[in-house]
Amino acid sequence: MKIAKTITELKTGLEELGRDKTIGFVPTMGYLHDGHLSLINKAQGQNDVTVVSIFVNPTQFAPGEDLDAYPRDFDRDSQLAEAAGTDLLFFPDPAEIYPAGASTFVEVEGEITRKLCGQSRPTHFKGVTTVVNILFNLIQPTRAYFGQKDAQQVAVIKKMVRDLHLPVQIAVCPIVREADGLALSSRNVFLSPEQRSEALVLSQSLAAAKALYESGERSVKVLKDQLVSQINTMPLAIIDYADILDFETLADIETITAPALAAVAVRFEKARLLDNIILD
Ligand code: PAJ
Repeated sequence: MKIAKTITELKTGLEELGRDKTIGFVPTMGYLHDGHLSLINKAQGQNDVTVVSIFVNPTQFAPGEDLDAYPRDFDRDSQLAEAAGTDLLFFPDPAEIYPAGASTFVEVEGEITRKLCGQSRPTHFKGVTTVVNILFNLIQPTRAYFGQKDAQQVAVIKKMVRDLHLPVQIAVCPIVREADGLALSSRNVFLSPEQRSEALVLSQSLAAAKALYESGERSVKVLKDQLVSQINTMPLAIIDYADILDFETLADIETITAPALAAVAVRFEKARLLDNIILD
């Protein structure tokens, strides 16, 4: 596996792997777990060359968020990435991606970035779309792989690709979970044992809402109440949001008549956890 720290090394590495090859690209912020590895495996199976980036992107963190505390372990990550079949690992410094004076951003406007995570993190998606666009420009992938775990991120990236006619296919991979249902996340490391056991309420409340939906319930209010009341039984859990929206557009709905996304974000002190399920 080649490791590139600089853009020059990245370009050389890509040249050596062959510019005529199909490239599968997996952008990450590192501290890799089986969710990330599932994306790398998928990319590896569908492309000639697999490129992974590890970059804790400062522009998607607001002041006071966990940029400095975000977990990092490059040696472990590079071993895991290599074992999963990565050909080229891009691990740039912030100054490489954002040279001094850089002031250009890519922003998807509208409801799609304002609701859910956009409410408590209003500048977050602007940082995500900017860095993903920069990485797409540098790597020029055939396909890029994202996890359904970050459902709003997927919707926003797909919209950016559509709106800007970017020549890349977006592939979405299912949520990878612990055996007990907790969605894997680099931030799970912040959970105390007590918070870890309470955090099961995310997947459990979503499963309960899905069971209600499957028994015929179509009222968004009833299904949302189920999510909120179940999460609120956990004393350490603070709900950031619990919402049910149109799956494609993330528009508000009152009654489910087409596939819908039930999505929750819950804070446990240092860890803000996300999970979602599709009601289809
Ligand atoms: P990060 O949180 O490291 O996630 C990288 C990719 O792994 C994302 O596409 C995310 O949805 C996916 N992923 C995380 N947990 C997963 C799980 N349990 N199952 C399946 N996929 C999972 O998302 C980011 O980084 C950043 O915003 C990034 C896109 C790299 C831009 O900086």
